[in-house]
Amino acid sequence: MFVLNRTDLHVDIKKSVVVDKKKLNLLPLTMFVVFLLGLQHVFLLHGKDLQLDIKKSVVLDKKTDLFWKFNETNNVAKCYFNNDPVVFDKYEGRAEVFGQNYSLLLKNVQHSDSGDYTAVVSGEKDQKVAEYKVIVQDPVSPVNLTVDSVDSSSDSCNLTVTCSTVDSHISSRFRCDTQNCSQAENGSLKAKPRSSTLIIYLQQDFIICNHSNQVSWKHKTEKITSYCKTLSGKNKRQSHKG
Ligand SMILES: *[C@@H]1O[C@H](CO)[C@@H](O)[C@H](O)[C@H]1NC(C)=O
Ligand SMILES: *[C@@H]1O[C@H](CO)[C@@H](O)[C@H](O)[C@H]1NC(C)=O
Ligand SMILES: *[C@@H]1O[C@H](CO)[C@@H](O)[C@H](O)[C@H]1NC(C)=O
Ligand SMILES: *[C@@H]1O[C@H](CO)[C@@H](O)[C@H](O)[C@H]1NC(C)=O
Ligand SMILES: *[C@@H]1O[C@H](CO)[C@@H](O)[C@H](O)[C@H]1NC(C)=O
Ligand SMILES: *[C@@H]1O[C@H](CO)[C@@H](O)[C@H](O)[C@H]1NC(C)=O
Ligand SMILES: *[C@@H]1O[C@H](CO)[C@@H](O)[C@H](O)[C@H]1NC(C)=O
Repeated sequence: MFVLNRTDLHVDIKKSVVVDKKKLNLLPLTMFVVFLLGLQHVFLLHGKDLQLDIKKSVVLDKKTDLFWKFNETNNVAKCYFNNDPVVFDKYEGRAEVFGQNYSLLLKNVQHSDSGDYTAVVSGEKDQKVAEYKVIVQDPVSPVNLTVDSVDSSSDSCNLTVTCSTVDSHISSRFRCDTQNCSQAENGSLKAKPRSSTLIIYLQQDFIICNHSNQVSWKHKTEKITSYCKTLSGKNKRQSHKG
């Protein structure tokens, strides 16, 4: 159920960034701004391993080293000319840099690992060769989908449902006539914490409540025709005819 979007881990810093609308809604404005400056966002499930690559070509020599840095001032690892990379004490046993391509691997990421990672080639001048913004997220909390009320007559049926998580909830109304069902109002909410989204929608005969963030989602469904029985009967008759 928890989907780790592994493609996010191998992002090319030269690639143009396509922001889909749904994701954009989830990002605070400040993040959107850095997005425009070409900073790559990497969303990662808590406890997973993070791999950050350098896509630019890097050549080290006697006078040129490479540093992986966290939040500007903390050095994670260092690569020398003709030497094995070294990992600084705070990251000992947890981080690894591959000598052949300078990719950084950070194991078992924690929330405190969220922040900016840069690879800097340091010679006569410093040059940034990779830059990522890493956001570590927990799996979303479970959801409940409850049917609050059903008003049913021979030719219509109105249904109110509520989708809830531990700290937020949304309601939505659905209406069925003799032909079909539709959502009377669209239910969608950015849940607390803002990094997750709660949404209710209708897909064929199913009401779906989906709680999601960038790395995981949980959902519940209810079959609308088990509450609006008049409709399901008529539907069957109708589909026989047609
Ligand atoms: C760098 O090397 C490591 C170890 O061989 C490999 O796992 C990783 O995928 C490589 N990265 C790139 C960008 O090729
Ligand atoms: C790293 O920087 C981010 C902001 O980019 C900040 O939210 C985070 O708390 C910082 N982490 C540490 C451990 O300083
Ligand atoms: C459902 O709602 C519609 C619009 O408010 C109303 O016309 C209809 O009578 C309602 N049906 C039932 C069974 O309450
Ligand atoms: C879902 O419903 C069950 C049973 O009523 C309850 O124990 C649980 O706390 C609810 N969970 C949420 C997220 O509302
Ligand atoms: C519902 O049924 C009516 C009448 O058959 C049809 O015109 C309409 O397109 C249907 N709506 C949906 C959402 O299928
Ligand atoms: C709900 O959203 C769907 C898809 O975004 C749209 O087609 C539909 O018209 C919306 N319904 C209402 C009542 O806003
Ligand atoms: C729930 O939302 C996530 C993220 O948008 C999506 O990947 C997933 O397919 C959705 N699940 C369902 C059952 O709609």
